[in-house]
Amino acid sequence: MMGNTFGRMFRVTTCGESYAGGFRKHLNIPKELYGGLITIVDGVPPGIKLTADMIQQELDKRKPGQSELDSPRKEIDRVYIFSGVMEGDLTTGAPVGMVIPNVDIEDIHIEQYRSYKDIVRPGHAEYTFFKKYGEYADWVGAGRASGRETAARVAAGAVAKAILDPLGIDVIGFVTESNGIKAGPITYEMAKANYRKNELNCPDLEKAREMIEDILKVKEEGDTCGGVVEIIARGVPAGLGEPVFDKLSATIAHGLMSIGAIKGLEFGDGFEHARMRGSESNDRPYLDESTGRVRFRTNKAGGMLGGISNGEDIRIRVAVKATPTVSVPQETVDMEKIENVVLEPITRRDPTLLPRIYPVCEAMVRIAIVDALFMAKGYRALANISDKWDRL
Ligand SMILES: Cc1cc2nc3c(=O)[nH]c(=O)nc-3n(C[C@H](O)[C@H](O)[C@H](O)COP(=O)(O)O)c2cc1C
Repeated sequence: MMGNTFGRMFRVTTCGESYAGGFRKHLNIPKELYGGLITIVDGVPPGIKLTADMIQQELDKRKPGQSELDSPRKEIDRVYIFSGVMEGDLTTGAPVGMVIPNVDIEDIHIEQYRSYKDIVRPGHAEYTFFKKYGEYADWVGAGRASGRETAARVAAGAVAKAILDPLGIDVIGFVTESNGIKAGPITYEMAKANYRKNELNCPDLEKAREMIEDILKVKEEGDTCGGVVEIIARGVPAGLGEPVFDKLSATIAHGLMSIGAIKGLEFGDGFEHARMRGSESNDRPYLDESTGRVRFRTNKAGGMLGGISNGEDIRIRVAVKATPTVSVPQETVDMEKIENVVLEPITRRDPTLLPRIYPVCEAMVRIAIVDALFMAKGYRALANISDKWDRL
């Protein structure tokens, strides 16, 4: 399997599956080392304060089993820092290694997966994994295609947060739509004030109640539903992103589109731009007399021009599809018997991925920004460009 590393200067590598540790239980090793997730973050500068608690706080947002809206899987997602941090909880500049053991690897669940191991779960990644890995494909809980993998990214995102926080760069994710129910317009300030005030993390508290009631109805019907997550990055300096293939927009899109179940992405006014005239779509720059800096009257572009940050908020929206695993019978194919079959209802599932996916989005955006920041700073350090441009 290739492609387990993201980033160019700030490089995140993850490994680990969903339940594979369940097959190593007989070994004479501590329980925590049967299996789980490992994250290695390369390119962390020295002298960054980083504790397991800081990482745990991020992981706790994503962990399953926190409310009726997510999977009953019992993962505590406890993180252990393995390397790269020394006295005073300061990074040394060495790769930061983190381990998150999987503890919910009970035989009973593995046997459940075994019972439909050759049957393709519609909407999940089994068919394509069979095509790529044949009989070696990991059939327990979707392996690397499992949402479990995203815990490793959230741990890396916490390292990125430790770098961005002291620079005043803030990334916040929240839910704006669920199963067609839309929140009202949400500002950064509103998202901050109402952050995680409900299980769905929708800052429109009234609409959130409606959304949650609706999700519980969908759950009762044995079904699942999707929605929209918005992410805002504030405080990103102008100039991040490389003009051609490594635009900041492209790097962020790469990070976000690599998260399972994300089906669409928009920056700023996104697809609405297709319906605007140039005079409507253009954000007008002006000189802010109080700071002497250039700002923009509107932010329809979503904080980037030419794929390079312009100093305004970076605004992104992603479409999250309904959880593929449902509790209703579905037509599918048995890959071993090579015949059409009906997959029986599956009970352990998230009725919606929204409450668990926004922390993963925050993590990927933070990682992309740190990576772009290092690229821009590295380039700038060697470029003979007047400070005048920084001041504007
Ligand atoms: C945090 C997170 C949790 C997920 N949990 C589940 C789950 O419990 N059941 C499920 O069927 N899919 C779950 N998924 C979605 C699948 O991983 C995803 O749909 C699958 O890999 C197929 O990829 P695609 O939807 O991008 O085509 C989860 C995804 C994320 C990001």
